[in-house]
Amino acid sequence: MANEGKLILLVDDHDATRETITELIRDLGHQTLTAANQFMALKYIDERRFDLALTDLKLPDGSGLDVMRRLRQTSPETPVVMITGHATIENAIEATRMGAYEYLLKPVDLNRLRTVIKNALHLSALERQIGRASALDAIVGHSAKIAEVKDFIRQIAKTDVTVLIQGESGTGKEMAANAIQALSRREGAPFVKVNVAVLSRELIESELFGHEKGAFSGAIRQRRGRFEMADGGTLFLDEIGEMPLDSQVKLLRVLQEREFERVGGTETLPIDIRLICATNLDLRQRVDEGKFRDDLYFRINVVRLRLPALRERPEDIPLLAEHFRQKYSVRYGFDRQFAPETLKALRAYAWPGNVRELENAVEGAVVRSSGQLIDADRLPEEITGLAPAPSLDVTPGQPLAEVERQYILAELARHGGNKAMAAKSLAIGLKTLYRKLEAYGGGGQGNDEAEGDGEQGPGN
Ligand SMILES: Nc1ncnc2c1ncn2[C@@H]1O[C@H](COP(=O)(O)OP(=O)(O)OP(=O)(O)O)[C@@H](O)[C@H]1O
Ligand SMILES: [Mg+2]
Repeated sequence: MANEGKLILLVDDHDATRETITELIRDLGHQTLTAANQFMALKYIDERRFDLALTDLKLPDGSGLDVMRRLRQTSPETPVVMITGHATIENAIEATRMGAYEYLLKPVDLNRLRTVIKNALHLSALERQIGRASALDAIVGHSAKIAEVKDFIRQIAKTDVTVLIQGESGTGKEMAANAIQALSRREGAPFVKVNVAVLSRELIESELFGHEKGAFSGAIRQRRGRFEMADGGTLFLDEIGEMPLDSQVKLLRVLQEREFERVGGTETLPIDIRLICATNLDLRQRVDEGKFRDDLYFRINVVRLRLPALRERPEDIPLLAEHFRQKYSVRYGFDRQFAPETLKALRAYAWPGNVRELENAVEGAVVRSSGQLIDADRLPEEITGLAPAPSLDVTPGQPLAEVERQYILAELARHGGNKAMAAKSLAIGLKTLYRKLEAYGGGGQGNDEAEGDGEQGPGN
């Protein structure tokens, strides 16, 4: 498979150079996407993944170093070859320091360029393979249940089938989605994640499908939605159970017809995506309660991956605890081991917040220990059973909102950070809980909301 056509980004403002190099690359059996300036180059980099990039150093509107910087951020495994007619030592050093694979002088010796391209592509294929293996290896666990999960992922990743991932909060749903994408045929293509639970009812459709200029007040220019950004790649809809019913109708139509319109638009756009959905809710029950459309449920429930709660596979606890101990020991620069009674306490606890709760507990314990050993008293009290749930600091005269804040955070802590369970015991919606946590700052979902909206053009 090493010879399948690769996609190479070629950035040069000189027409003749672009033509010559494009031809050379075509002869090698690969494809180019060419850009004559930095603006177009950055746009392409945001939209797709390249196996290799060749860039001129001096561009009419910027520098090849900025092109390289953006590649380093969005796809660090893509090698970059810098080509320049204005060689200076400073530039050569800067390019090398940033990790340029090679630095070539103009006029380019085509034989040399051919060799460099072949070698760089070989390197990038190796890096990709390592990336793929590690996405699955990142899922730690030696229980039969986790082995089944990994087998399942290996089996379905290569197909384009829609996957519904179900599991309690903190069981690794997002990790599983990452692994499916990394092992899929769409691995080099866009991977767009959307957490439906944090989107407001008003904005969800424009967020997913984009909008035309003037579609509603505030729509001052056209915007591409997440579906469009994911075209050719994979879309991960996290917390899909939280989607409002009217948006569910639209989603179903898009999935069935494989086309959509932007909000306020008339043009119908075709779409090619692989869909992965996740939820910590019982969707079947949501259907019975009339909160989730059954036709959409059938449409997304093509194959289902259920992630087991940690208490269903306690044999994984010591391995995971050790994994996180190492991770945080390295991060914080400590070399501390678990005391036997600490492992015993970890093993005995029920972990309502699953792996995320375990990870947080171990991180806290690593940091809060002082000697060589991590003693059990460094674990949160609910785990060691040494004290009841945190008490509230409520005195008359405090604003109601402050009391509410403390109460909500205490409930969340009592449920080991499991938002779904905390929301249930507070008898409020999960979405309401998300909104409140976000208002408190830092308590929201944070990292699984893709940043950037792909609108980096001028006039932004
Ligand atoms: N099997 C595992 N091995 C290693 N780390 C794991 C495993 N499962 C989960 N984690 C870690 O636990 C945390 C939670 O995982 P993840 O975000 O994938 O869970 P989730 O099911 O999406 O949770 P939520 O429903 O709260 O969004 C992450 O930091 C992840 O790296
Ligand atoms: Mg998640």
